[in-house]
Amino acid sequence: MATLAPPLRNFARKLAYRYTRLGAPAYPYIVEPIQLATLVSEIERLKDTAGSILEVGVAWGMTSRFLCEHLAACGRPWERFYAIDTFDSFQPRDVEFEIKHRGKTRAQVSGFEYLDFNAWKRNFRGFRFLTAFKADCSVFDYVKVAPVKLAFVDVDLYLPTRGALQKIYAHLCEGGAILVDDVMQPSRWDGAWQAYSEFCSETGLCPQVIGNKMGVIRK
Ligand SMILES: C[S@@+](CC[C@H](N)C(=O)[O-])C[C@H]1O[C@@H](n2cnc3c(N)ncnc32)[C@H](O)[C@@H]1O
Repeated sequence: MATLAPPLRNFARKLAYRYTRLGAPAYPYIVEPIQLATLVSEIERLKDTAGSILEVGVAWGMTSRFLCEHLAACGRPWERFYAIDTFDSFQPRDVEFEIKHRGKTRAQVSGFEYLDFNAWKRNFRGFRFLTAFKADCSVFDYVKVAPVKLAFVDVDLYLPTRGALQKIYAHLCEGGAILVDDVMQPSRWDGAWQAYSEFCSETGLCPQVIGNKMGVIRK
């Protein structure tokens, strides 16, 4: 392809920036800024605590990448970050539960079918402190990543959120935290809200929501 001479290239850039939307900054994350800020400040709060950092439900990896950039920048090569996902969308059992017991339509509770474990791992191979597991978070053996100091649980539906919270809490360090996405009602993903609310009430914890939708669990 022919390359433009520098003055022409600058002129083309100027035109594109002024008269098109090509230079408009985008927000590529599917979580709120306050969630990303909280995740980073929790990582820093827990920097002297032994334990792993988990993201359960990673999709194509936007939040994972953000956290990897922070971990790379903070210069603590001993930190361990684990990404857990089916890399194959929702489990059929979890979708049927939303339809039969939570009044959702199949279209409302579908997505992420395009994911691929090998492609995901390839995209993150530069981050040596990160290990990805292809697994159902409801049955994953969290002993493999224990003790856990911080977990971000973002699997949208009721059953996997409930399963992950119960299992991760058992391996959470004293002082550790679990942050849960989609703690908001009504919404397409309010199964996460139901699982979080039930977990807090069964465990005797006071619910706390940061921003519009991030539930907090502390031990
Ligand atoms: C909303 S996305 C995660 C977004 C990601 N945390 C981010 O901030 O960019 C939900 C993910 O949960 C995963 N998921 C759903 N059910 C799961 C289960 N039972 N076990 C593991 N992962 C699951 C899906 O494959 C999907 O990638």
